[in-house]
Amino acid sequence: MAKPVLIIHGGARGRLPLKAMAPVFQDAIVAIVAEAYAILEAGGSAVDAATKAAALLEDHPIFNAGRGSKIQSDGKIRMSAALMDGASLKFSGVVNVEGLKNPIELARRLNSQSSRTLASRGARAKAKEWGLAFRSPMTPGRLEEFRQSKSGKSGTVGAVALDKNGRIAAATSTGGRGMEWPDRVSDTPTVAGNYANKFVGVSATGTGEEIVDFALCAKVATRVEDGLSVSAAMKKSFAEARRRGYEFGAIALARDGSFSALTTTPFLLWAVCNSDGITVNL
Ligand code: GLY
Repeated sequence: MAKPVLIIHGGARGRLPLKAMAPVFQDAIVAIVAEAYAILEAGGSAVDAATKAAALLEDHPIFNAGRGSKIQSDGKIRMSAALMDGASLKFSGVVNVEGLKNPIELARRLNSQSSRTLASRGARAKAKEWGLAFRSPMTPGRLEEFRQSKSGKSGTVGAVALDKNGRIAAATSTGGRGMEWPDRVSDTPTVAGNYANKFVGVSATGTGEEIVDFALCAKVATRVEDGLSVSAAMKKSFAEARRRGYEFGAIALARDGSFSALTTTPFLLWAVCNSDGITVNL
């Protein structure tokens, strides 16, 4: 029996959130990692725990996913999410869906289907058919950022879970960069932005184009599968990424419960929960 572990992130950032906001981020990320970890403690699956953690992050308006997603340059919010079950090696994703409360729930539902990644109109139609909840993701803060034409690299959320049966799953969700061209596709619904196998799960955040160019999550996973520890695989990958001037971060969790969280940006918000309790990087 494996000891369950859950690691989650709230995005790579150029700097710490405003000091006054630090307790808000701390309270949110601690509550979310604790609630989703309870699924693992009760014997639930890594897929269930990773999906739940990502859904809770989507529901919290301080993160750039689900409610609180950033706005594209035409004034619309289009969200993307992905789930990978390391035990079945199945990836599923949602690309640029509008108005869905929890894009990660749709990715979860798609994971067992014959068509596993759906974009915009098709994703919305399938979510309606399956009775998933719809809600406007717009928040006053994001509207103000849009009015000021602000974009950025921060805030994509993600989770990697290891369950008692030793299975690993990774889930990632994003509102994108903000002010990007309409329908731009980020790294999140690709194996560069979210990947899991029997050895490790990885979830990325940061500049999507660079994460895709580097094949970040799949690269880290391949290195672990080929024998590197999760710490060595992440260190090697991030040393290369720094040399190339890339701006992104990732969390990774291996089947022995060891984990790593690294970023080339000044800051990555993450929390981990295991039998030792909760640790937060804030
Ligand atoms: N990593 C999210 C994005 O580039 O949109």
